[in-house]
Order: sequence, then C-alpha cells, then structure tokens
Amino acid sequence: MTLENILEAKQYLEKIVQVKPEIAIILGSGLSPLADRLEDSITIPYKDIPHFPVSTVKGHKGNLIVGKIKNKYVLCMQGRFHYYEGYTMQQVTFPIRVMQMLGIKTLIVTNAAGGVNKSFKAGDIMLITDHISRMPNPLIGPNEETLGERFPSMTNIYDKNLRQLALEFAQNNNITLKQGIYVGNTGPSFETDAEYIMFRQLGISAVGMSTVPEVIVAAHAKMKVLGFSVISNVFNEDILQEPTHEEVLENVSLANVKLIEILEGVIPKID
Ligand code: HPA
Repeated sequence: MTLENILEAKQYLEKIVQVKPEIAIILGSGLSPLADRLEDSITIPYKDIPHFPVSTVKGHKGNLIVGKIKNKYVLCMQGRFHYYEGYTMQQVTFPIRVMQMLGIKTLIVTNAAGGVNKSFKAGDIMLITDHISRMPNPLIGPNEETLGERFPSMTNIYDKNLRQLALEFAQNNNITLKQGIYVGNTGPSFETDAEYIMFRQLGISAVGMSTVPEVIVAAHAKMKVLGFSVISNVFNEDILQEPTHEEVLENVSLANVKLIEILEGVIPKID
C-alpha cells in the first residue's frame, strides 16, 4: 500500500462525493441499518474504489456510504476487513488512510465482542475506554512521515471528551452504557477458557478480533476516536447453560437499535 494507492482511492472518491464529511463510522456486524437511515446518501461499493480490499466474509456488505445524520455529513464503512481473513495489516487499515486523506477528523468504531466482565450480559453496549493489542502492529515498516510520526502516542486514544458526550447522551435517554477495556486478538479461533479468565484477571471487559488496527492507524493520523462494542456473548465459567444462537442474535439486534440511537444522538454534537 503506497501513498500513491491511497491518493488514487481518495481522488476517485472526491470525484463522486461532493461533500466533505469530517466524521467516519466503521459499522460492525448488524449495524448496517444505520447507513440505510442516512439522508441524501450515496453508496460506493468497495469493488469500485481503486486499491480497496473487498470483504470475503459471507453476509458482510462492502460499501462506503456518505450521507447526513441531522446536520452532519458522515462517511460509513458498511463492512470491514479482518486480519483473520488473510489481509495484511496495510490492507485492513487502508480505508483509514483514505479517510485521513479525505479530511476525516473523528473516527467512530463499532464491533461485536465477547464479554468477560462478570457483570455483563449479552446485548449490553460497552463504551471502549481503552484497548490492549494482541495483534501485529499495522505501523510496522518504513514510516511515511506525511501520514504521521514514527513513534505515535497511544495515550487517551479513545477520546475522553467524546466518551463523555456518549455517557451523557446515554444517561439522559435511559440507555445503559457499560464501559471497559477491549482486547484485540487475531482470531479466527475464539478464546480458550484459560484465555478468557486471564483477560478478566487483567481487567479486560470485552474480547474481539477487529478494531485495534484501525484505531492505531487513526491515532497515527491524529484522528479522535470513539468506540463501542456490542456484547454478543458472555463467557462465564459458572454457567454451563450456553444461550442459544437465536437468543444471542435477538440480544444483539436489540442492542444495535440502542447503539444507533446513541450514535444518532452523539454525532450532531461532535465538533
Ligand atoms: N471472542 C472474540 N471475538 C468475539 C467474541 C468472542 O467471544 N464474540 C464476538 N466476537
């Protein structure tokens, strides 16, 4: 992925999109309906964008959608690229570089994750306070100085002020918003029982296979980041009765409705 590739993708998009969004959202599984609710929207399939990877996961959509939420234009990624699919870290984070070139200042990341915090239930929404990475760093390799510095800070990457906006909106609208640390693993295997227990002992609340690479690159690009995990399942060694797949899906879709409400409430307040 060269600077030239990023520029070609940017130039292609600038020809199609006449507006200049400063907020981008990566929609995790099940959150596509948010993109369908945008006003004055325009949909650009990933396959049409020069050098853009194309999603391999069945049922995952692959579109960039630009449109309006209230007074704000946003750029949505409907479908993301996972390291476990076999993409390089440069491919996984290519869209973030294109966003950077397009002038995106705030990145909102969402994902589905496993809960390890004992107080969590399937269907909870967790505001990501910080992350722990167990994936290869996407910034490994020569540093492109025009994109960011060699040793970028990773302090307060999930911006405290943005988190405050989300917490206030949730509280004012009677939506329960948990908070916690997300650990990014490569997948595709789920965690062993010992790993889930280790993560909990480390103070981690949620476990997933995405988000961390995109957030590291966004921080390198000096974007502000806000992140949410929808808890799709909870590891609990004391409960032998696993929820059915239908129960999990039902919980997640209820949570997604609430998360869309939070996003539509918070986005107009981001400056
Ligand atoms: N582990 C990792 N990733 C996940 C999980 C999990 O338990 N649930 C949803 N994504």
